[in-house]
Amino acid sequence: MNSIEKGSMKRGDFLRSLGLSTSTLMAFYCLGTTMTACGSKDDDPNPDPDPDPGSGGNGVSGTTTGNNINFTVDMTKSPYTDLKTAGTGRVIGDVLVALPTTGSYVALSKICTHEGNTVGYRKNQNDIQCPVHQSEFTLTGAVKQGPAVNPLKTYTVTVSADGNTLTVKA
Ligand code: FES
Repeated sequence: MNSIEKGSMKRGDFLRSLGLSTSTLMAFYCLGTTMTACGSKDDDPNPDPDPDPGSGGNGVSGTTTGNNINFTVDMTKSPYTDLKTAGTGRVIGDVLVALPTTGSYVALSKICTHEGNTVGYRKNQNDIQCPVHQSEFTLTGAVKQGPAVNPLKTYTVTVSADGNTLTVKA
């Protein structure tokens, strides 16, 4: 760039025109600014309570995705406390965990066998539905209504004696 017309160039464009690297540019941006992306974790007014959603976040430990599902859920921790209430369901990793009636947990693949969208538990119908093309499944994973033709994979789910910890296994 040969000439810079005063007032016509943004700060970033000007700095880039000087040939500075991206990291150097970020240092310039952060100096003397209040950009939250540059602040420390302590500065964040809305800290992410679920920094690792792939593993299910706080309260979940183990493998929640893929072919070797094997995890525990601490239902004394938010947001999993709702899994103690009959008529609730929650997706954790690749798994839909539901409590249709008190003490009778079910765990199934969240991945619809039609085209792979995420299914959900329906309290009123007491079943599982894919909201994309309306396939319906029983709580044992069987197809109630297509277009899906194959059942949902099911997992073994057990609850601890104190009712606070779920274990889900393939
Ligand atoms: S992806 Fe679930 S019904 Fe089509």
